[in-house]
Amino acid sequence: MSGTVPSLAANIEKPPGTPIDPADAERVKLFQPFKQKSVTLHNRLGVSPMCMYSSTDGHLNDFHILHYGSLALKGPGIVFIEASAVVPEGRITPQDSGLWSDAHISDLKRVVDVIKSQGSTPGIQIAHAGRKASMSPPFKGDYLEAEADGGWPNSVVGPSDNAYAPHYAKPHALTVQEIKQLVQSFVDAAIRADKAGIEVLEIHAAHGYLLSSFFSGNSNKRTDEYGGSFENRIRFGLEVVKAVRDAWPDHKPLWVRISCAEYVNPDPMGSDPDGWDIYQSCKLAAEFKKLGVDVVDCSSGGNVQGVKYPSAPMYQVQFSEAVRREAGIHTAAVGLIVEGTDAEQILQKNQADYILAAREFLRDSAFVLVSAQALDVNIKFPNQYEWAVRKARRHNTTKPDESKHGSAVKLTSIP
Ligand SMILES: Cc1cc2nc3c(=O)[nH]c(=O)nc-3n(C[C@H](O)[C@H](O)[C@H](O)COP(=O)(O)O)c2cc1C
Repeated sequence: MSGTVPSLAANIEKPPGTPIDPADAERVKLFQPFKQKSVTLHNRLGVSPMCMYSSTDGHLNDFHILHYGSLALKGPGIVFIEASAVVPEGRITPQDSGLWSDAHISDLKRVVDVIKSQGSTPGIQIAHAGRKASMSPPFKGDYLEAEADGGWPNSVVGPSDNAYAPHYAKPHALTVQEIKQLVQSFVDAAIRADKAGIEVLEIHAAHGYLLSSFFSGNSNKRTDEYGGSFENRIRFGLEVVKAVRDAWPDHKPLWVRISCAEYVNPDPMGSDPDGWDIYQSCKLAAEFKKLGVDVVDCSSGGNVQGVKYPSAPMYQVQFSEAVRREAGIHTAAVGLIVEGTDAEQILQKNQADYILAAREFLRDSAFVLVSAQALDVNIKFPNQYEWAVRKARRHNTTKPDESKHGSAVKLTSIP
């Protein structure tokens, strides 16, 4: 048994998304394991964190079992559970996932157990939305949620009192004492994630949410030790990373997601020294490395409204490549990576150590299996789904050897 999944229904011996032929694993980087500390991701294509805006009071529920379970079933090396708020006011919407209370642990553990039962690795992103909090779920609209609808428009916080956009809340500028309390909230959430069985923790320091809004002079207008110079703007983020690394088990990897550029300078690799840019991101990543961060997950944008985003395939890979090279740290690439062949090229060119995808997994939860086919890798399907790819294994009148149950076969085509 793994959680509530009986052993016959589990897929842990040879996880889906594992190459069957060792020669394929030699040849194709995307299907090589990624080992960090005590955790081995069985391939290098994982599910990026994605808010589902489907929780009540931060609790995960059967929808999340269904959603994360269906993704885990089809072979990603890691399934990152969505941004989960470290305090209630740190939710983007009232329906966000949360980890601000011990009461959240058991619901999270159910999802963790389901992911593990299918041979994947459960990760989670812990987050504070900062001045982008108390909004509506995107599929309801784009408006500030009133208190009557579960929002907290008068308790939104940020580095300074400037709003993200006119229809967002006017934040309260955090006091130094409040900053220290939030460092502890990140630590407490990390401890709860560990108790729930999470293997990889990611700190959300991207997309204009609280930590990234401190990094950038475009949002951080403080004049104390948390604002002004680069060293001051990154101080809060470093305090969080250091405290979480100290509390998070030594044998488990810690990832941090950052926005590598904000597009105030329309050249993605251009400089924005008083705001935020790739050069500061590389310096920040070097500081993370000193603190024991294992992977910097390279995203971009989200902190400045009204800028123009590049929308070309793999548009953020250049950030991952630069951070990896300049800071000498492992990176994850994410953003419009929708072909297995492209993902493989990114790894082959040493532009990243790991590939995350978000929307492609929503379009096709079998993205890993489809990618294997594109790369001509003979891939393990979940036992229960082998019918989709197996050649004849009929007329077998002898009791099958349990250890060979669901043995893998060459993938010929996926309808
Ligand atoms: C529905 C949805 C929810 C998202 N929620 C999060 C989140 O919780 N945390 C985060 O860092 N990024 C979030 N993102 C961004 C994705 O993780 C990813 O970085 C982005 O979509 C680009 O990757 P893609 O082109 O493969 O979708 C979300 C994206 C989508 C589409």
